[in-house]
Amino acid sequence: MEIINYHPRFKGRLYSLMGEFVESQLLTSRLNINDGLAVQVNAITEFNLRNIGLGLDWCTLAVEEDVPIGFATAHLYRNNASKLMSIGVVEFSGVYVDLTCRGKGIGVSLDKRLIEIAKSDPQTRKLLAAVKEGNVCGEKLKRRVGFRPTRNTYNGEDGGIYRIFQRRP
Ligand SMILES: CC(C)(COP(=O)(O)OP(=O)(O)OC[C@H]1O[C@@H](n2cnc3c(N)ncnc32)[C@H](O)[C@@H]1OP(=O)(O)O)[C@@H](O)C(=O)NCCC(=O)NCCS
Repeated sequence: MEIINYHPRFKGRLYSLMGEFVESQLLTSRLNINDGLAVQVNAITEFNLRNIGLGLDWCTLAVEEDVPIGFATAHLYRNNASKLMSIGVVEFSGVYVDLTCRGKGIGVSLDKRLIEIAKSDPQTRKLLAAVKEGNVCGEKLKRRVGFRPTRNTYNGEDGGIYRIFQRRP
């Protein structure tokens, strides 16, 4: 297994993994998504993938025998989008590992590579991640790569409560 930076030749497989990630997030939400789950998953996945293609988001891939089995994404804010997401904040927006490959340190490796990328950008001021309450693996992973919980929480559009984790670059 190796960790690499995103390359467009992996777009198809990344699309599938991102779709699984988005679907898992929507299914644990309280949104009424019974009509058109697939439509929503595709719309969000396409948006996320486009941001990577445009260079707006960073993305790392875990690749096994030339097949991506996991990804992590982050976004560097270049304007003041909100009180929390302001210029120089890097938001760790997603990390996902194929179900059959979990528990082997791949999530940690993906996030660590993203941290290196974020650190190497002179615009980076701080790293933030929102973890949904009850997502034990997500929280353990963020703690393991040096993020610590802040007092900030927000109510997600999906009805979930998210805690903001923070780390210095
Ligand atoms: C979160 C996720 C990416 C972790 O990937 P992974 O490759 O299994 O993680 P790692 O093996 O690197 O382990 C990271 C931490 O999670 C813990 N962990 C892994 N699987 C776990 C499980 N089933 N239950 C509890 N903790 C678990 C590990 O023990 C480790 O913590 P530790 O070092 O303190 O022991 C993966 O579970 C996933 O894709 N989940 C669905 C998407 C998601 O929720 N993403 C996170 C959004 S914040």
